[in-house]
Amino acid sequence: DKGEYRHYMMKEIYEQPKVIAACLEGRISETKVLTSCFGVDSSFLKDIENVHIVACGTSYHAGMVAKYWIEDLAGLPCSVEVASEYRYRKVAVPKNTLFLTLSQSGETADTLAALRMAKELGYLTSLAICNVPSSTLVRESALTLLTNAGAEIGVASTKAFTTQLTALLITSIAIASEKGALSAEKEAELVTSMRSLPAHIDEALKQDAAIKKVSDRFANKHNALFLGRGPMFPIALEGSLKLKEISYIHAEAYPAGELKHGPLALVDEDMPIITLVPHNNMLDKLKSNLQEVAARGGELYVFADKDTDLHNEDGVIFTEVPKVDEILEPIVHTIPLQLLSYHVAVVKGTDVDQPRNLAKSVTVE
Ligand code: F6R
Repeated sequence: DKGEYRHYMMKEIYEQPKVIAACLEGRISETKVLTSCFGVDSSFLKDIENVHIVACGTSYHAGMVAKYWIEDLAGLPCSVEVASEYRYRKVAVPKNTLFLTLSQSGETADTLAALRMAKELGYLTSLAICNVPSSTLVRESALTLLTNAGAEIGVASTKAFTTQLTALLITSIAIASEKGALSAEKEAELVTSMRSLPAHIDEALKQDAAIKKVSDRFANKHNALFLGRGPMFPIALEGSLKLKEISYIHAEAYPAGELKHGPLALVDEDMPIITLVPHNNMLDKLKSNLQEVAARGGELYVFADKDTDLHNEDGVIFTEVPKVDEILEPIVHTIPLQLLSYHVAVVKGTDVDQPRNLAKSVTVE
Protein backbone atom coordinates (compact mmCIF):
# COMPACT_ATOMS: atom_id res chain seq x y z
CA ASP A 1 0.00 0.00 0.00
CA LYS A 2 1.47 3.32 -1.13
CA GLY A 3 -0.70 5.29 1.30
CA GLU A 4 -0.57 9.01 0.55
CA TYR A 5 2.36 8.60 -1.87
CA ARG A 6 2.25 8.36 -5.64
CA HIS A 7 5.09 5.84 -5.77
CA TYR A 8 6.57 3.23 -3.47
CA MET A 9 9.95 4.86 -3.91
CA MET A 10 8.76 8.09 -2.28
CA LYS A 11 7.03 6.19 0.50
CA GLU A 12 10.26 4.30 1.15
CA ILE A 13 12.36 7.48 1.07
CA TYR A 14 10.09 8.94 3.77
CA GLU A 15 10.24 5.76 5.86
CA GLN A 16 13.95 6.22 6.42
CA PRO A 17 13.89 8.00 9.82
CA LYS A 18 11.70 5.18 11.15
CA VAL A 19 13.64 2.25 9.68
CA ILE A 20 17.03 3.66 10.62
CA ALA A 21 15.72 3.87 14.18
CA ALA A 22 14.61 0.24 13.82
CA CYS A 23 18.08 -0.70 12.62
CA LEU A 24 19.67 0.94 15.66
CA GLU A 25 17.12 -0.51 18.09
CA GLY A 26 18.63 -3.20 20.30
CA ARG A 27 22.09 -2.67 18.81
CA ILE A 28 23.36 0.27 20.86
CA SER A 29 23.21 1.38 24.49
CA GLU A 30 23.69 4.99 25.63
CA THR A 31 27.44 4.71 25.17
CA LYS A 32 28.32 1.53 23.28
CA VAL A 33 27.52 -0.83 20.47
CA LEU A 34 26.04 -3.87 22.25
CA THR A 35 28.24 -6.97 22.24
CA SER A 36 25.19 -9.09 21.37
CA CYS A 37 24.34 -7.42 18.07
CA PHE A 38 25.64 -10.22 15.83
CA GLY A 39 23.68 -12.88 17.69
CA VAL A 40 26.86 -14.21 19.31
CA ASP A 41 29.27 -12.48 21.66
CA SER A 42 31.16 -9.93 19.58
CA SER A 43 34.54 -10.88 21.08
CA PHE A 44 35.17 -12.91 17.90
CA LEU A 45 35.87 -9.55 16.26
CA LYS A 46 39.12 -9.29 18.27
CA ASP A 47 40.76 -11.80 15.94
CA ILE A 48 39.99 -9.94 12.73
CA GLU A 49 43.01 -8.50 10.93
CA ASN A 50 41.47 -7.79 7.51
CA VAL A 51 38.03 -7.32 6.01
CA HIS A 52 36.84 -8.34 2.53
CA ILE A 53 33.49 -6.84 1.53
CA VAL A 54 31.64 -8.32 -1.46
CA ALA A 55 28.30 -7.11 -2.90
CA CYS A 56 26.55 -5.86 -6.05
CA GLY A 57 25.12 -2.52 -7.17
CA THR A 58 23.80 -0.25 -4.46
CA SER A 59 24.94 -2.71 -1.79
CA TYR A 60 28.46 -2.48 -3.22
CA HIS A 61 28.33 1.31 -2.80
CA ALA A 62 27.41 0.84 0.88
CA GLY A 63 30.43 -1.45 1.19
CA MET A 64 32.67 1.22 -0.32
CA VAL A 65 31.64 3.67 2.40
CA ALA A 66 32.39 1.05 5.05
CA LYS A 67 35.98 0.74 3.81
CA TYR A 68 36.57 4.35 4.91
CA TRP A 69 35.00 3.67 8.31
CA ILE A 70 36.77 0.36 8.98
CA GLU A 71 40.20 1.65 7.99
CA ASP A 72 39.64 4.94 9.84
CA LEU A 73 38.06 3.65 13.08
CA ALA A 74 39.59 0.17 13.40
CA GLY A 75 42.80 0.67 11.42
CA LEU A 76 42.24 -2.62 9.59
CA PRO A 77 42.87 -3.08 5.86
CA CYS A 78 39.56 -3.45 4.05
CA SER A 79 38.90 -4.30 0.40
CA VAL A 80 35.57 -4.00 -1.41
CA GLU A 81 34.68 -5.80 -4.62
CA VAL A 82 31.65 -6.49 -6.77
CA ALA A 83 30.58 -10.12 -6.42
CA SER A 84 30.51 -10.77 -10.18
CA GLU A 85 34.27 -10.06 -10.32
CA TYR A 86 35.22 -11.65 -7.02
CA ARG A 87 33.62 -14.99 -7.84
CA TYR A 88 35.59 -15.50 -11.05
CA ARG A 89 39.11 -14.75 -9.92
CA LYS A 90 41.71 -16.25 -7.67
CA VAL A 91 41.45 -14.29 -4.43
CA ALA A 92 44.38 -14.07 -2.01
CA VAL A 93 42.97 -14.23 1.51
CA PRO A 94 45.24 -12.95 4.29
CA LYS A 95 45.14 -14.66 7.66
CA ASN A 96 42.22 -13.73 9.93
CA THR A 97 40.06 -12.05 7.35
CA LEU A 98 36.36 -11.39 7.84
CA PHE A 99 34.19 -12.05 4.77
CA LEU A 100 31.37 -9.51 4.78
CA THR A 101 28.51 -9.55 2.28
CA LEU A 102 25.82 -6.93 1.83
CA SER A 103 22.53 -7.65 0.14
CA GLN A 104 19.11 -6.13 0.40
CA SER A 105 17.36 -9.25 -0.91
CA GLY A 106 19.78 -11.95 0.22
CA GLU A 107 19.05 -13.72 -3.09
CA THR A 108 21.49 -12.05 -5.49
CA ALA A 109 23.06 -14.88 -7.50
CA ASP A 110 26.58 -13.41 -7.73
CA THR A 111 26.71 -12.55 -4.03
CA LEU A 112 25.56 -16.05 -3.06
CA ALA A 113 28.14 -17.60 -5.40
CA ALA A 114 30.84 -15.40 -3.84
CA LEU A 115 29.84 -16.55 -0.34
CA ARG A 116 29.94 -20.20 -1.39
CA MET A 117 33.38 -19.71 -2.90
CA ALA A 118 34.61 -17.82 0.16
CA LYS A 119 33.72 -20.77 2.36
CA GLU A 120 36.46 -22.73 0.62
CA LEU A 121 39.06 -19.99 1.04
CA GLY A 122 39.83 -20.07 4.75
CA TYR A 123 38.17 -16.90 6.00
CA LEU A 124 37.86 -16.38 9.73
CA THR A 125 34.09 -16.21 9.43
CA SER A 126 31.30 -14.79 7.26
CA LEU A 127 28.94 -11.98 8.17
CA ALA A 128 25.90 -11.01 6.08
CA ILE A 129 24.24 -7.60 6.40
CA CYS A 130 20.85 -8.26 4.87
CA ASN A 131 17.26 -7.06 4.89
CA VAL A 132 15.47 -10.39 4.49
CA PRO A 133 15.69 -12.72 7.52
CA SER A 134 14.50 -15.80 5.62
CA SER A 135 16.88 -15.30 2.67
CA THR A 136 19.44 -17.76 1.32
CA LEU A 137 22.30 -15.40 2.19
CA VAL A 138 21.25 -15.25 5.84
CA ARG A 139 20.79 -19.02 5.96
CA GLU A 140 24.21 -19.72 4.49
CA SER A 141 26.26 -17.09 6.38
CA ALA A 142 27.78 -17.84 9.79
CA LEU A 143 26.67 -14.50 11.23
CA THR A 144 23.99 -11.97 10.34
CA LEU A 145 23.12 -8.39 11.08
CA LEU A 146 19.63 -7.61 9.81
CA THR A 147 18.96 -4.11 8.51
CA ASN A 148 15.28 -4.10 9.58
CA ALA A 149 14.18 -1.77 6.76
CA GLY A 150 10.94 -3.67 6.07
CA ALA A 151 9.91 -4.75 2.57
CA GLU A 152 11.24 -2.51 -0.20
CA ILE A 153 9.03 -2.51 -3.30
CA GLY A 154 10.65 0.20 -5.44
CA VAL A 155 13.31 -1.38 -7.65
CA ALA A 156 15.66 1.51 -6.97
CA SER A 157 16.94 0.87 -3.49
CA THR A 158 16.58 3.70 -0.97
CA LYS A 159 15.83 2.71 2.63
CA ALA A 160 17.64 -0.60 2.18
CA PHE A 161 20.80 1.36 1.33
CA THR A 162 20.69 3.81 4.26
CA THR A 163 19.97 1.00 6.71
CA GLN A 164 22.91 -0.95 5.25
CA LEU A 165 25.08 2.08 5.97
CA THR A 166 23.69 2.24 9.50
CA ALA A 167 24.40 -1.47 10.04
CA LEU A 168 27.90 -1.00 8.60
CA LEU A 169 28.59 1.87 10.98
CA ILE A 170 27.48 -0.33 13.89
CA THR A 171 29.79 -3.08 12.60
CA SER A 172 32.74 -0.73 12.07
CA ILE A 173 32.41 0.63 15.61
CA ALA A 174 32.05 -2.89 17.04
CA ILE A 175 35.22 -4.05 15.26
CA ALA A 176 37.16 -0.93 16.29
CA SER A 177 36.00 -1.31 19.87
CA GLU A 178 36.90 -5.03 20.12
CA LYS A 179 40.28 -4.34 18.51
CA GLY A 180 41.00 -1.74 21.19
CA ALA A 181 41.29 0.97 18.54
CA LEU A 182 38.51 3.11 20.00
CA SER A 183 38.51 4.85 23.38
CA ALA A 184 35.34 4.57 25.47
CA GLU A 185 34.87 8.34 25.06
CA LYS A 186 35.13 8.19 21.29
CA GLU A 187 32.74 5.22 21.11
CA ALA A 188 30.22 7.07 23.30
CA GLU A 189 30.54 10.10 21.03
CA LEU A 190 29.93 8.03 17.89
CA VAL A 191 26.97 6.20 19.43
CA THR A 192 25.44 9.50 20.55
CA SER A 193 25.80 10.82 17.00
CA MET A 194 24.20 7.69 15.57
CA ARG A 195 21.23 8.10 17.86
CA SER A 196 20.54 11.50 16.28
CA LEU A 197 20.49 10.02 12.78
CA PRO A 198 16.69 9.64 12.39
CA ALA A 199 16.20 13.31 13.37
CA HIS A 200 18.84 14.44 10.86
CA ILE A 201 17.23 12.38 8.10
CA ASP A 202 13.90 14.00 8.95
CA GLU A 203 15.53 17.39 8.59
CA ALA A 204 17.15 16.43 5.26
CA LEU A 205 13.72 15.42 3.94
CA LYS A 206 12.50 18.98 4.50
CA GLN A 207 14.41 20.02 1.36
CA ASP A 208 12.02 17.93 -0.73
CA ALA A 209 10.10 20.88 -2.22
CA ALA A 210 13.31 22.80 -2.99
CA ILE A 211 14.84 19.75 -4.68
CA LYS A 212 11.66 19.21 -6.68
CA LYS A 213 12.09 22.72 -8.10
CA VAL A 214 15.72 22.05 -9.00
CA SER A 215 14.77 18.79 -10.73
CA ASP A 216 12.89 20.65 -13.50
CA ARG A 217 16.25 21.82 -14.79
CA PHE A 218 17.26 18.19 -15.49
CA ALA A 219 14.31 17.31 -17.71
CA ASN A 220 16.18 17.95 -20.98
CA LYS A 221 19.65 16.92 -19.84
CA HIS A 222 21.30 13.85 -21.33
CA ASN A 223 24.29 13.58 -19.00
CA ALA A 224 25.22 14.40 -15.44
CA LEU A 225 28.43 14.23 -13.44
CA PHE A 226 28.52 13.50 -9.70
CA LEU A 227 31.54 14.45 -7.61
CA GLY A 228 32.55 13.61 -4.04
CA ARG A 229 35.72 13.01 -2.08
CA GLY A 230 36.47 10.47 0.65
CA PRO A 231 33.40 8.54 1.85
CA MET A 232 31.26 10.93 -0.21
CA PHE A 233 32.68 9.44 -3.39
CA PRO A 234 30.66 6.21 -3.01
CA ILE A 235 27.61 8.38 -2.26
CA ALA A 236 28.27 10.21 -5.56
CA LEU A 237 28.38 6.78 -7.25
CA GLU A 238 25.09 5.85 -5.61
CA GLY A 239 23.50 9.17 -6.64
CA SER A 240 24.56 8.61 -10.24
CA LEU A 241 23.26 5.02 -10.21
CA LYS A 242 19.89 6.20 -8.88
CA LEU A 243 19.62 8.92 -11.55
CA LYS A 244 20.44 6.57 -14.43
CA GLU A 245 18.23 3.77 -13.12
CA ILE A 246 15.02 5.70 -12.85
CA SER A 247 15.39 8.74 -15.13
CA TYR A 248 17.57 7.11 -17.84
CA ILE A 249 19.92 10.10 -17.82
CA HIS A 250 23.49 9.01 -18.36
CA ALA A 251 25.38 9.81 -15.18
CA GLU A 252 28.88 9.18 -13.93
CA ALA A 253 30.61 9.73 -10.63
CA TYR A 254 34.21 10.66 -9.95
CA PRO A 255 36.30 11.43 -6.92
CA ALA A 256 36.56 15.21 -7.34
CA GLY A 257 40.36 15.09 -7.42
CA GLU A 258 40.22 13.02 -10.62
CA LEU A 259 38.47 15.80 -12.58
CA LYS A 260 41.51 17.16 -14.31
CA HIS A 261 42.72 13.67 -15.20
CA GLY A 262 40.03 13.35 -17.85
CA PRO A 263 36.37 14.10 -17.07
CA LEU A 264 36.92 17.88 -17.08
CA ALA A 265 36.94 17.58 -20.88
CA LEU A 266 33.22 16.79 -20.73
CA VAL A 267 32.30 19.92 -18.83
CA ASP A 268 30.32 22.58 -20.69
CA GLU A 269 27.10 24.51 -20.09
CA ASP A 270 24.98 21.42 -20.88
CA MET A 271 26.58 19.31 -18.19
CA PRO A 272 25.09 19.52 -14.70
CA ILE A 273 27.69 18.74 -12.02
CA ILE A 274 26.30 17.49 -8.75
CA THR A 275 28.75 17.90 -5.90
CA LEU A 276 28.55 16.51 -2.39
CA VAL A 277 30.41 18.79 -0.07
CA PRO A 278 31.52 17.34 3.26
CA HIS A 279 32.40 19.64 6.11
CA ASN A 280 35.93 18.47 6.79
CA ASN A 281 39.52 19.24 5.95
CA MET A 282 38.78 18.47 2.29
CA LEU A 283 36.36 21.40 2.04
CA ASP A 284 38.89 23.84 0.60
CA LYS A 285 40.22 21.28 -1.87
CA LEU A 286 36.71 20.60 -3.03
CA LYS A 287 35.94 24.28 -3.42
CA SER A 288 38.92 24.60 -5.73
CA ASN A 289 37.60 21.63 -7.78
CA LEU A 290 34.32 23.54 -8.06
CA GLN A 291 36.12 26.60 -9.38
CA GLU A 292 37.68 24.47 -12.10
CA VAL A 293 34.19 23.44 -13.17
CA ALA A 294 32.72 26.95 -12.94
CA ALA A 295 35.54 28.33 -15.07
CA ARG A 296 34.41 26.01 -17.87
CA GLY A 297 30.78 27.11 -17.77
CA GLY A 298 29.50 23.94 -16.05
CA GLU A 299 26.27 24.27 -14.06
CA LEU A 300 27.02 23.37 -10.45
CA TYR A 301 24.54 21.77 -8.05
CA VAL A 302 26.10 21.78 -4.60
CA PHE A 303 24.75 19.86 -1.64
CA ALA A 304 26.33 21.21 1.52
CA ASP A 305 25.59 22.48 5.00
CA LYS A 306 25.16 26.22 5.35
CA ASP A 307 28.36 26.67 7.36
CA THR A 308 30.40 25.76 4.27
CA ASP A 309 29.78 29.31 3.03
CA LEU A 310 28.47 27.96 -0.25
CA HIS A 311 25.25 29.54 -1.51
CA ASN A 312 23.20 30.28 -4.61
CA GLU A 313 25.05 32.41 -7.10
CA ASP A 314 25.56 32.64 -10.83
CA GLY A 315 26.04 29.09 -12.08
CA VAL A 316 25.72 27.58 -8.59
CA ILE A 317 22.50 26.01 -7.34
CA PHE A 318 22.81 25.39 -3.61
CA THR A 319 20.81 22.84 -1.63
CA GLU A 320 21.18 22.78 2.10
CA VAL A 321 21.99 19.51 3.87
CA PRO A 322 21.83 19.39 7.68
CA LYS A 323 25.16 19.86 9.43
CA VAL A 324 26.04 16.60 11.16
CA ASP A 325 29.07 14.83 12.60
CA GLU A 326 31.48 13.88 9.86
CA ILE A 327 30.88 10.15 10.32
CA LEU A 328 27.16 10.58 9.49
CA GLU A 329 27.63 12.76 6.42
CA PRO A 330 27.52 9.95 3.83
CA ILE A 331 24.17 8.74 5.19
CA VAL A 332 22.57 12.18 5.43
CA HIS A 333 23.85 13.28 1.99
CA THR A 334 22.18 10.26 0.40
CA ILE A 335 18.71 11.70 1.05
CA PRO A 336 18.80 14.75 -1.29
CA LEU A 337 20.20 12.58 -4.10
CA GLN A 338 17.34 10.10 -3.71
CA LEU A 339 14.87 12.99 -3.86
CA LEU A 340 16.61 14.49 -6.88
CA SER A 341 16.53 11.28 -8.92
CA TYR A 342 12.90 10.68 -7.89
CA HIS A 343 11.72 14.13 -8.98
CA VAL A 344 13.73 14.05 -12.21
CA ALA A 345 12.14 10.70 -13.07
CA VAL A 346 8.66 12.08 -12.34
CA VAL A 347 9.34 15.10 -14.55
CA LYS A 348 10.54 12.79 -17.32
CA GLY A 349 7.50 10.53 -16.87
CA THR A 350 9.41 7.27 -16.47
CA ASP A 351 8.14 4.30 -14.47
CA VAL A 352 9.70 5.21 -11.13
CA ASP A 353 8.98 2.03 -9.21
CA GLN A 354 9.60 -0.36 -12.07
CA PRO A 355 12.35 0.99 -14.33
CA ARG A 356 12.71 -0.65 -17.74
CA ASN A 357 14.98 -3.72 -18.00
CA LEU A 358 15.54 -4.04 -14.24
CA ALA A 359 14.38 -6.59 -11.67
CA LYS A 360 14.18 -6.12 -7.91
CA SER A 361 16.00 -9.33 -7.15
CA VAL A 362 18.73 -10.52 -9.51
CA THR A 363 18.65 -14.27 -9.00
CA VAL A 364 20.42 -15.11 -12.25
CA GLU A 365 23.90 -13.93 -13.18
C1 F6R B 1 19.84 -0.40 -7.34
C2 F6R B 1 19.75 -1.70 -6.69
C3 F6R B 1 20.67 -2.76 -7.14
C4 F6R B 1 20.91 -3.80 -6.04
C5 F6R B 1 21.72 -4.98 -6.58
C6 F6R B 1 22.06 -5.96 -5.49
O1 F6R B 1 18.95 0.53 -6.83
O2 F6R B 1 18.93 -1.89 -5.82
O3 F6R B 1 21.89 -2.24 -7.61
O4 F6R B 1 21.58 -3.20 -4.98
O5 F6R B 1 21.01 -5.60 -7.59
O6 F6R B 1 20.90 -6.40 -4.85
P1 F6R B 1 20.91 -6.90 -3.37
O7 F6R B 1 21.23 -5.74 -2.51
O8 F6R B 1 19.55 -7.46 -3.13
O9 F6R B 1 21.98 -7.97 -3.29
